[in-house]
Amino acid sequence: MSEPEITLPEVDLSQPPAENIVRVTFQPEGKTVEFPFDTLPYDGHGLPMSILDVAENYHIFLDHACGGVCACTTCHIHVKAGATGLSEAEDLELDRMDTAPGLQLNSRLGCQAVIEKPGAYVVEIPSWNKNYVQEGKPAAVVKK
Ligand code: FES
Repeated sequence: MSEPEITLPEVDLSQPPAENIVRVTFQPEGKTVEFPFDTLPYDGHGLPMSILDVAENYHIFLDHACGGVCACTTCHIHVKAGATGLSEAEDLELDRMDTAPGLQLNSRLGCQAVIEKPGAYVVEIPSWNKNYVQEGKPAAVVKK
């Protein structure tokens, strides 16, 4: 079942985020959300305050076949801005990403990349992840 569409509040992108505010833009959709740092309720997917947690809170689709426990690569994102405000990748995430398609220097697993400080973040959900949405087929059903 697909997530319900919700209308996100307008964010003034001509201004930097206010003090103590986290701003996350999800590309290529260009959806931007803002919230005070460390106030988001934990949605139960991925690490608290991870990019996946933010996406789930705002009903933005980011595939997470393993439920956010670093056991797949379907939450793969490319971090285009804000990387220094994210947690360092642990060995388990690095090992898991070695198996990910479309790996780049700015690749992270959305369920493991935790927002550690206020500021602006831009992440891209790779197009092959988007394709699964269009086809209504989560990556988890792809068998090797
Ligand atoms: S959801 Fe499976 S590794 Fe992130």
